Amino acid sequence: MKTEIKEKITATNQKYLKKFLTEEAPAKLESQLEHMDWSYLDMIHNKEQQRGTFSPLAAMEISEIEANKDKYLATGLDAVKNGKVGAILLAGGQGTRLGFDKAKGMFNIGKTKELYIFEQLVANLMKVTNQTGTWVPLYVMTSEINDSMTREFFEEHDYFGYNKDYVKFFVQEMVPAVDFDGNLLMKSEDSLAMSPNGNGGWFKSLINAGLDKDLKDKGVEWLNVFAVDNVLQQIADPVFVGATIESGCVSGSKVVRKCDPYERVGAMCLENGKPSIVEYYELTPEMAEAKNENGSLQYGFGVILNYLFRVDKLMAIAEKSLPLHVVEKKVPYIDENGTEHKPETPNAYKFETLILDMVYMMDNSLPFEVDREKEFAPVKNATGTDSVETARALLEKNGIEI
Ligand code: UTP
Repeated sequence: MKTEIKEKITATNQKYLKKFLTEEAPAKLESQLEHMDWSYLDMIHNKEQQRGTFSPLAAMEISEIEANKDKYLATGLDAVKNGKVGAILLAGGQGTRLGFDKAKGMFNIGKTKELYIFEQLVANLMKVTNQTGTWVPLYVMTSEINDSMTREFFEEHDYFGYNKDYVKFFVQEMVPAVDFDGNLLMKSEDSLAMSPNGNGGWFKSLINAGLDKDLKDKGVEWLNVFAVDNVLQQIADPVFVGATIESGCVSGSKVVRKCDPYERVGAMCLENGKPSIVEYYELTPEMAEAKNENGSLQYGFGVILNYLFRVDKLMAIAEKSLPLHVVEKKVPYIDENGTEHKPETPNAYKFETLILDMVYMMDNSLPFEVDREKEFAPVKNATGTDSVETARALLEKNGIEI
């Protein structure tokens, strides 16, 4: 092992790696240690993110959207028909809360028949392709953990009826996990416990995979980025695209009206005058309950991880770094004696960048209200809130046979 790595192990007092100061390290582990960013380890002592000054940002509410629907729809359909809209499916997460060991999109949400999450998302996208007679390029972000299973699943299911020439996969980067004392965790004798680096790195990973060229070749000007877990996700929604273009914004964010002032969702707002998302725990009670003249809450619209970005603006910020978030997660590992541990509660920090921080890098973002009963059915947990049960109920409510 290189001397500088040995020095880093010693300097950071790595409990699980100490033995490799005298023993030979497996090649894979050595390469991981050489390529990793050791400065992450300092982040665990510096977890608080510095935030700016928040102020409200009015959403385009459903009534306003309805009043202008024809205009927005025409503009959006035109953009889709001219091949200007692409879609990014963020599917690199580990879905630890759901506790499903495959890619989350491979989860069968059906009750009386098979209905995979990926299948439902493709069906949602096909509404637009059928309406416009145009295939929307779909780029699927996976991680090293679920990449091959995801590609194989799409192949096996014949891309759920989508045109496979318009589906491309790319893999996001991985970062190491550390325990609460800053020790790098080992997944096996020859590998660190690595995990995907969050959903904020998607555009860099897309470029690393050379797909920016594909965007250029196809003339894609707008990218609709969405999470894998919302089975009612409306993708490349022409009204949303049209409203964002017509409002002159460089990005748009789908939002839903919060159920109550304290609902645990991030709310769309301004931060130092830039579009941003304030987390529910960052709101003071005064802010949470502050009302507009029409009686609606000033911080009353929560984001649902469905964003639209103008590609030239993404290119302009591609090299900028996003803030790193340190999050507590359950990470299985082997200890210094080779004993396996499968923690029941969070035992480690993971380092992630988040797509919501990308919104802050945009000059503006249109908060576009959608009906949560029709467009928001996240599958985060196995049971309870935002679970398989609640998503199934919402699918049925929308007349989707499951
Ligand atoms: P979540 O924040 O729900 O994370 O992801 P997760 O990893 O899927 O689930 P938990 O927290 O472990 O239960 C929101 C969206 O971002 C994607 C997910 O696939 C999902 O679509 N994501 C998340 C990535 O693509 N990469 C990541 O590294 C993290």
